[in-house]
Amino acid sequence: MKALVLSGGAGTRLRPITHTSAKQLVPVANKAVLFYGLESIAEAGITDVGMIVGDTAAEIEEAVGDGSQFGLKVTYIPQERPLGLAHAVLIARDYLGDDDFVMYLGDNFIVGGITGLVDEFRSNRPDAQILLTRVADPRAFGVAELDPSGQVIGLEEKPDRPKSDLALVGVYLFTPLIHDAVRAIEPSWRGELEITHAIQHLIDSRADVRCTVITGYWKDTGNVGDMLEVNRMVLEGMDRRIDGEVDAASETIGRVVVEEGARIIDSRIVGPAVIGSGTVIRNSYVGPFTSIAENCRVTDSEVEFSIVLRDSSIQGVGRIESSLIGRHVEVTPAPSVPSAHRLVLGDHSKVQITS
Ligand code: DAU
Repeated sequence: MKALVLSGGAGTRLRPITHTSAKQLVPVANKAVLFYGLESIAEAGITDVGMIVGDTAAEIEEAVGDGSQFGLKVTYIPQERPLGLAHAVLIARDYLGDDDFVMYLGDNFIVGGITGLVDEFRSNRPDAQILLTRVADPRAFGVAELDPSGQVIGLEEKPDRPKSDLALVGVYLFTPLIHDAVRAIEPSWRGELEITHAIQHLIDSRADVRCTVITGYWKDTGNVGDMLEVNRMVLEGMDRRIDGEVDAASETIGRVVVEEGARIIDSRIVGPAVIGSGTVIRNSYVGPFTSIAENCRVTDSEVEFSIVLRDSSIQGVGRIESSLIGRHVEVTPAPSVPSAHRLVLGDHSKVQITS
């Protein structure tokens, strides 16, 4: 069995992390979403991975390399434009050969991995298996309709009037039958060859398409609350590890990870929290459910239930909570006169000011 991981797509900038061009590299607990996917693939006993890449190929290739850091053998498959998920299957035909495969969308996060699902597929071997999850707004997803026995009878891509709240999760298990289906369909209204339509084609030709409903699913939709929540969940599952320097005047309590090269000076860190390498926390408090990425500076401040991306600096600003701070951001106090907020905010920024 092989894996086909989709890490293409246009280099359009993503909300809310406007400076991260490859959305598959958005960090959760200081690790790219894509890496969790690759780890789950390796854990499920799959080693051969075809990786679809587009505009952001260089960034993805730099992060993933040949895959050996995950115990994988990664082969890059360039896609000239994001012409759809089924198009990705089409161009991977030679790589996939006649093997069964798991297709994994690189911006999806499945809590608990995919080993159980892959094992179930291997033993039952239906023609295809899809994953579904209940979501608040199904209009942003592929949506499944089930009959009373739980059998999938219809799939629609981003419908205006969804027939259920069961969204298609970005992990699909396929036998080579899918290759005929992706060749049989036409581009959708958005000009993409939709995998949803290819699976509908399988259903219409009476193939055995099964579904499993899962919980513990996340995909970046621009919602900061969801991102803080998935970060919290992942931090909860971490073990304590102090590889960086913590001076005698500092305290680290509970599940705290201090990466090698990080320094904690005159500060208090209460876990679960992770401090990336090269980051210096000085005379500050870092509270639970906080991820601070590499090469940041936190000085004379308090940060709790927040995500700070790399190369940012927070200095002398009192307490920050429930916040998402991008890369190369500076947060500092304003001069006292004139008394005013001075802001330089990127596209789609959101600021809440107490005054
Ligand atoms: O995330 C689950 C959803 O993914 C499903 O519910 C939908 O049915 C499915 O169509 C897909 O919807 P999105 O519109 O959210 O997919 P997106 O364009 O975000 O692409 C998903 C991943 O695949 C992303 O990592 C980029 C990559 N991709 C996408 C396209 C269209 C490619 O590598 N090549 C492509 O041509």
